[in-house]
Amino acid sequence: MEKEVRRGGWWVVVMVMAMVIGRGETHLVQNFYSSSCPNVEAIVRQAVINKTSQTTIAVPATLRLFFHDCFVQGCDASIMIASPNGDAEKDAPDNLSLAGDGFDTIIKSKQAVESVCPGVVSCADILAIAARDVVFLSGGPSFSVELGRRDGLVSNASLVAGQLPQPNFNLNQLKQLFSKNNLNQIDMIALSGAHTVGFSHCNRFSNRLYSFSSSSSLDPSLNTSYAQQLRADCPQNVDPSIVVNLDPVTPQTFDNVYYQNLVAGKGLLSSDEVLFTDPSSNPTVIDFANNPSDFSAAFATAMIKLGRLGVLVGSQGQIRTDCTAFNS
Ligand code: HEM
Ligand SMILES: *[C@@H]1O[C@H](CO)[C@@H](O)[C@H](O)[C@H]1NC(C)=O
Ligand SMILES: *[C@@H]1O[C@H](CO)[C@@H](O)[C@H](O)[C@H]1NC(C)=O
Ligand SMILES: *[C@@H]1O[C@H](CO)[C@@H](O)[C@H](O)[C@H]1NC(C)=O
Ligand SMILES: *[C@@H]1O[C@H](CO)[C@@H](O)[C@H](O)[C@H]1NC(C)=O
Repeated sequence: MEKEVRRGGWWVVVMVMAMVIGRGETHLVQNFYSSSCPNVEAIVRQAVINKTSQTTIAVPATLRLFFHDCFVQGCDASIMIASPNGDAEKDAPDNLSLAGDGFDTIIKSKQAVESVCPGVVSCADILAIAARDVVFLSGGPSFSVELGRRDGLVSNASLVAGQLPQPNFNLNQLKQLFSKNNLNQIDMIALSGAHTVGFSHCNRFSNRLYSFSSSSSLDPSLNTSYAQQLRADCPQNVDPSIVVNLDPVTPQTFDNVYYQNLVAGKGLLSSDEVLFTDPSSNPTVIDFANNPSDFSAAFATAMIKLGRLGVLVGSQGQIRTDCTAFNS
């Protein structure tokens, strides 16, 4: 009896210490919500399943939202903020037309989480969980996601310029921007594999079809039959809303076919194809094209590193109630 009480006493001390340490947490952990919202991952998973079964666009849209959030001012859900003045992060020209279904996936997930654990789970963490889930639900790897992020207090379109990669970047420019974000060349090549799902507007690559160089209107690294198909899909002066699959072979499946496409000259963006044509990144592309498990492992590792960028923890920032607005 006495022993039980003493053991119970120690348990309380251990719990209190854990809470004190937890408050001063300076990094992310997998079980962050194990006592405050133990079912958070299952709730988000169900909300993501609901959304992606309504529209498969939610898969690429959510994944890209996570990437853009993390590269601009860290993974703090600043990209979710809606501004009546149209000057929040999501309104930057560089948002490259982020699809509304990504935003909606996070909004719906947050609502489902709030109804069970109000005021506890950050939008930044929900975005990280949802990005992991859309990858898995479309056929990609499953991995444990680190949690404990808090939501940012700043969202400004003026902070976006220069932070996101452009489709005409060469390998050095890609490497430089990713390494500024603690992501090495292998991480960069693996994360580019996200282009195994989703779309691009014609104007992001039409220079490769019509005005590549003074000697050739067509980018010679494009597979000729693919180039013809793209010219048909994206005629000059095409309606700017027209989009093309980033992966022409398995556009809705998260797989390593993206890398097989690069080998066959079917990388849609110049920044995709350069990963194959540049000798420095070529061996990794060949490896990922031939070994799906190498790609899966590298992608999971890189997503976890991406999710650590510039995070707010402990008492920094806030836990937003509505992901699209700062708490009043
Ligand atoms: C390596 C440098 C990268 C460049 C230059 C780049 C550029 C682009 C461009 C131009 C588009 C088409 C946008 C449009 O026309 O609407 C796009 C789409 C997309 N990007 Fe990237 N991206 C890069 C890396 C990434 C990374 C790291 C991820 C995520 C981990 C990602 C995820 C996506 C997804 C999922 C789409 C499709 C979006 C949709 O269908 O709604 N991209 N990207
Ligand atoms: C998912 O959809 C089902 C059926 O419409 C609904 O009952 C459930 O509440 C939804 N769950 C979440 C987490 O959105
Ligand atoms: C992206 O920015 C453009 C302005 O550059 C804006 O018209 C568009 O609504 C924005 N997209 C989203 C999803 O906020
Ligand atoms: C965004 O930044 C610009 C330039 O620093 C500033 O003038 C503007 O007030 C900011 N907007 C918001 C909503 O913070
Ligand atoms: C170009 O695409 C065609 C049709 O998919 C394919 O058969 C061919 O092997 C590709 N060419 C190269 C050089 O990979």
